[in-house]
Amino acid sequence: MKALILSGGKGTRLRPLTHTMPKQLVPVANEPILGYVLRHIQDAGIKEVGVVVSPETQNDVRRFLGKGSRWRVRITYIPQEEPLGLAHAVKIARPFLGDSSFVMYLGDNLLAQGIKEFVEDFHSASLDALIFLKEVNNPQAFGVAVLNKKGQVTKLVEKPKVPPSNLALVGVYFFSPGIHEAIKRIKPSARGELEITDAIQELMRSGGTIKGEILEDWWLDTGKKDDFLAANTVVLDDYIKRDIQGKVDSKSKVSGRVRLEKTGKIINSTVRGPVVIGKKCEIVNSFIGPYTTIGHGTHIINSAIEHSVILDECRIENIARLEDSLIGREARVVHPQNHSSALRLLIGDNNIVEV
Ligand code: G1P
Repeated sequence: MKALILSGGKGTRLRPLTHTMPKQLVPVANEPILGYVLRHIQDAGIKEVGVVVSPETQNDVRRFLGKGSRWRVRITYIPQEEPLGLAHAVKIARPFLGDSSFVMYLGDNLLAQGIKEFVEDFHSASLDALIFLKEVNNPQAFGVAVLNKKGQVTKLVEKPKVPPSNLALVGVYFFSPGIHEAIKRIKPSARGELEITDAIQELMRSGGTIKGEILEDWWLDTGKKDDFLAANTVVLDDYIKRDIQGKVDSKSKVSGRVRLEKTGKIINSTVRGPVVIGKKCEIVNSFIGPYTTIGHGTHIINSAIEHSVILDECRIENIARLEDSLIGREARVVHPQNHSSALRLLIGDNNIVEV
């Protein structure tokens, strides 16, 4: 079995962060989303990975993934010149995929439990497609499935105005090579894309065996989520264990599930987990409260922060309270003495805020 990761697109829904980085590389708990995707693929024992990239963002994606050695896989890059749809991506990946079965994983999707157990299910049931469904409040933003009383998929529609159910299609799909013939038979949708949803529907129409599995655990489509802080909260809750590798001085107090990476320093401060603090960070005379991620190389001085994501190389200084905030890379939020009221900010990369 091979894996196909889709890592193109413009990420308009995650602006301002995606003005300066691809949406698949936005970090959640200091790990780019693509890092979780690769880890799931590695855990499933898959070695051959194709990554579909777009001209706009391919350099950043290639820099992060390289040849795949960090995850012990071999990566083949497949450029998609124009965003012509998910089924189009499968079409251009055919030389890489050959006649293998494969898992297609959208690079901005994050699943709680990974995919290992499903690889076995897919093979043992000899399916043509295994898809995953999850109940959502806004099905019109997704592909939507209808199931019959036996739990079999009877219909799939892409982003319907009037959704026939609240079961969204999750961005992870297992396919047999039969999907390629189905793709040949579909036409572009109203938005001009070859939709994978239509291809699966076509596979079903032509007698293919398709299973829809309803996910119990959480699933995040981070490319869609304007509430990026919610993704951070879920991941901190589920993935973070206490792991203090950096330095904590004797005047500091670090309680709960806190991950302090090597070369990070906590000086005369209080940190209350779940919290992740990256490499080469300095937390000085400060309070870091629950559900906060501090990126690599960031300095927090005389400040209190809670329920926030601060990306790499930032400086936050003399801010009495920063909460529910998302601060892009190399941003500075500083006050000359001490700012006393609470701040809630959404700041892209490289900005400077002098309060
Ligand atoms: C795509 C699929 C959609 C699916 C979603 C999951 O939508 O077309 O069926 O529900 O991914 O993330 P897109 O994110 O490209 O709008």
